[in-house]
Amino acid sequence: MKIELSSVSVTYEEGMPSATRALSGVDLTLVEGECVAVVGPAGSGKTTLLEVIAGLTRPSSGRIAGSPDGSAASLRTSVGLVHQFPEAQFFEETVFEDVAFGPNRQGLEPAEVRDRVSAALTRAGLPPEEFGERAPLSLSAGEKRRGAIAAILALGRPFLLLDEPTAGLDPATRRRVADLIENEVATGRGVAIVTHDLALAAELASRTIVMSEGSILADRGTASVFCDDALLGRIGLEPPPRYALVCRLRRENPAMAEEIGRLLGAPLAEPGA
Ligand SMILES: Nc1ncnc2c1ncn2[C@@H]1O[C@H](COP(=O)(O)OP(=O)(O)OP(=O)(O)O)[C@@H](O)[C@H]1O
Ligand SMILES: [Mg+2]
Repeated sequence: MKIELSSVSVTYEEGMPSATRALSGVDLTLVEGECVAVVGPAGSGKTTLLEVIAGLTRPSSGRIAGSPDGSAASLRTSVGLVHQFPEAQFFEETVFEDVAFGPNRQGLEPAEVRDRVSAALTRAGLPPEEFGERAPLSLSAGEKRRGAIAAILALGRPFLLLDEPTAGLDPATRRRVADLIENEVATGRGVAIVTHDLALAAELASRTIVMSEGSILADRGTASVFCDDALLGRIGLEPPPRYALVCRLRRENPAMAEEIGRLLGAPLAEPGA
């Protein structure tokens, strides 16, 4: 299954003096089993893009095709969206009930809901026997973030979109969230991550989409984007120094760059390489 956007534009408050063009003529394809990073300055349309893909914001023009029929309703059942700071949305009394909310609404049998919730909590590193009966607000910040992601995993959708999943996290929790996302990709889910954390993009995404003022400036292999100084300069982004070093080396000696990239914990392989 894939999701395809063709010439998608979004204007908020269309026809009003306050109208804002958030997306302009976006073409984009997401496929299962691939992780794509979306980067770009504040206000460039990243969140709007995720909301359109999730069927939560309707394009002002253009088309989205996805399974089964490309309608907003079918997108909503194919895509799980983890909003920025999702832990702000806990509202049930226990972690288990909170994660069960979505599957319950899908009308699943109680036993199926329990299985889904247990599996999602386990994948998020929150063993249900230890965390299920806890009050969501009693969790640590990192546990809250992972619990909120588990609530979306429990929906069992083929596509997972995450808006700034590591924003505000300490390094250890950031690591756990990165591992969690990597595992979801490995199980065949299609994943798109909006992030200002270029190291996270390099680590997880084989493809990177660069946005600026509502348009896609580039949609290429992550290594090729990271090593394009002119492109990154246009949007005011700079790769972490170890990636900049690997990029410089790649021009001289790609094999050595790959080796050193691995040693530095900054691998920048081309997809399929
Ligand atoms: N609900 C809304 N109503 C009106 N304008 C909006 C709305 N949501 C977003 N916008 C505008 O659309 C543009 C794109 O916003 P969006 O939130 O998609 O950007 P972003 O790339 O996610 O930014 P950030 O990195 O700050 O999260 C901005 O100019 C923003 O002000
Ligand atoms: Mg945003």
